[in-house]
Amino acid sequence: MGYKATYDRSMNERDAFWAEAASLIDWIKPWDRVLDDSTPPFYHWFSGAELNTCYNAVDRHVATRGDQPAVIHDSPVTNSKEIITYRQLQERVSRFAGALKDLGVTKGDRVIVYMPMVPEALIAMLGCARIGAIHSVVFGGFSARELATRIDDAKPKVMVAGSCGIETNRVVQYKPLLDEAINIAEHKPEHCIIYQRPQEPGTLVPGRDIGWAEAVAAAQPADCVPVAATDPLYILYTSGTTGIPKGVVRDNGGHAVALAWSMGAIYNIKPGEVWWSASDVGWVVGHSYIVYAPLLIGATTIVYEGKPVGTPDAGAFWRVIEEHGVKALFTAPTAFRAIKRDDPNAEQLKRYNLKGFRTLFLAGERCDPDTLQWAERILKVPVIDHWWQTETGWAIAANCTGIELLPVKPGSPTCAVPGYDIQVLDEEGETVKPGDIGRIMIKLPMPPGCLPTLWNNDERFVQSYLAMQPGYYLTGDAGYIDEDGYVYVMSRIDDIINVAGHRLSTGAMEGVLSSHPDVAECAVIGAADQLKGELPLGLVVLKNGVDRDPAVIRKELVDKVREDIGPVAAFKTVVIVSRLPKTRSGKTLRGTMKSIADGKEYKVPATIDDPAILDEIAAALEGIGYAKHG
Ligand code: COA
Ligand code: AMP
Repeated sequence: MGYKATYDRSMNERDAFWAEAASLIDWIKPWDRVLDDSTPPFYHWFSGAELNTCYNAVDRHVATRGDQPAVIHDSPVTNSKEIITYRQLQERVSRFAGALKDLGVTKGDRVIVYMPMVPEALIAMLGCARIGAIHSVVFGGFSARELATRIDDAKPKVMVAGSCGIETNRVVQYKPLLDEAINIAEHKPEHCIIYQRPQEPGTLVPGRDIGWAEAVAAAQPADCVPVAATDPLYILYTSGTTGIPKGVVRDNGGHAVALAWSMGAIYNIKPGEVWWSASDVGWVVGHSYIVYAPLLIGATTIVYEGKPVGTPDAGAFWRVIEEHGVKALFTAPTAFRAIKRDDPNAEQLKRYNLKGFRTLFLAGERCDPDTLQWAERILKVPVIDHWWQTETGWAIAANCTGIELLPVKPGSPTCAVPGYDIQVLDEEGETVKPGDIGRIMIKLPMPPGCLPTLWNNDERFVQSYLAMQPGYYLTGDAGYIDEDGYVYVMSRIDDIINVAGHRLSTGAMEGVLSSHPDVAECAVIGAADQLKGELPLGLVVLKNGVDRDPAVIRKELVDKVREDIGPVAAFKTVVIVSRLPKTRSGKTLRGTMKSIADGKEYKVPATIDDPAILDEIAAALEGIGYAKHG
């Protein structure tokens, strides 16, 4: 069946379509209803059913592929490699699950995981799934304060952390960040399991902390616990439009079905093949495609602790693909922009044999046609842009290579994935004509795998995503659909920016800047950047009478964002201006400032209260290399 017929079936025979996909999963108890739509706008998939996600990802493969590598850890930053078979993974996960149980963790308890890219991160996640505990992984590039916010929202019984992470040029001590976060947070976890790394072991707090090795050595293997399909598997926090992140909830049943189905339908990966998602377990791409999806189908997943460039060079990706026989790679366009920048003629590629490599998948940010075409030219395989977000957990629009490879149109992540009814609506809620830009929405119900709600916050879920247009989910992206049904995702409609594939809230950065005693008001915009897609740029107005050295204030502001949000924000530039451009009603004109920073033509808004300020801002930005036309 081709793409169109498959898509139409997913719309017209929805329950039969997903019931069939559900045969990819082993169930303990069958469902009463495929889609439970009895309480709109909340929808639940496979209600009444029971399963265990860890069993499906690990145990069930042991009989047939026990000696096959499940996980290959490749770490150029520590110069080490490790292969873990499915049998070994089962043994390690069940023991770790036992260690969690010994600390009193049971079904429904939350466990926060703050780990670098080591196999133990996956083992911790799967160990939680095994006993029905809900994991919440926090990306290592976030600050102690961000971690504390998540501790207070998720209220974990136990934290699992690595003692350190290793970036290209430095060791990042995680343990002091963890201690500080627990210190700041109101909720106090009972215990911490610390995975000690030789590069920088952490100091354990007696009575509260226990080393990973000791915890596991003392534990008995724990069995898989049946959970309801609708029970939460994990919470993953993502930037919202306020400083408080949103706790996206993922269920067990719908998630397992959607991911297992996507591995064949979208990525065309078969059991036993080697798959590599070069992301981080702290992001949704890592959850879905480093951990769960490849293991659910019995493939081999690569866990890569390194960067596309600098570890040691721009040939790093080609080395991993050749060495481990990778069939398909999934990463963000920014990784390819980094490789292109360092090795524009792909000289490094000549050193490696990529014979078995079939497809490159890109997502996480808009994929510029230049990067896509460069990758196609050097790799000579299909390069597939696809679009999704933390909330959906898997692709909304993609070229489903396992169903039918559609012609690639650079700039478009292709068409709606089966199960998603994507529509572009105008401000009145009417569907726009093909080619016209509007808000990209998904008509409810969304397919299995998408968020059922936000953690402990049904109201925010409805307000954030469902209230703007009843019956539709608001993606927060703007764009259009062409005559052939190809989707084009152009920009966000909120204050979220995308920095190297990482989603960040400019509102949260503004909150940090305004808390500086010298700052009267501020705005943060996402300015175009050739490598990272966008970079945050701060514009601040100082309070009257402040006469301290502006360079010192700028440095304090940069340091403060790094301290309060984390290095991942990549906030490095602040400009001090005499005032911000505003409308007469007092709304800051962020869009106009962004156009100026990006060197784009812009119209002076009719409602602006003081047009002269735009010239001052343009001059200030030109002085630091922005606002260049073309
Ligand atoms: N723990 C601690 N710090 C971290 C971290 C982690 N897990 N991950 C990143 N950081 C730090 C980096 O060291 C850097 O700090 P610096 O300001 O001191 O240099 C900062 O956070 C920004 O990191 P990053 O965005 O990774 O930028 P980079 O300059 O180190 O590398 C790229 C740029 C393009 C090579 C890199 O972003 C990349 O590999 N991207 C791949 C895409 C990807 O993983 N996307 C995720 C979603 S699919
Ligand atoms: P995250 O939740 O971190 O995965 O970020 C999701 C957001 O990243 C989306 O809402 C888009 O704004 C952007 N995004 C992800 N993939 C793409 C893509 N292929 N094309 C355009 N934007 C994308």
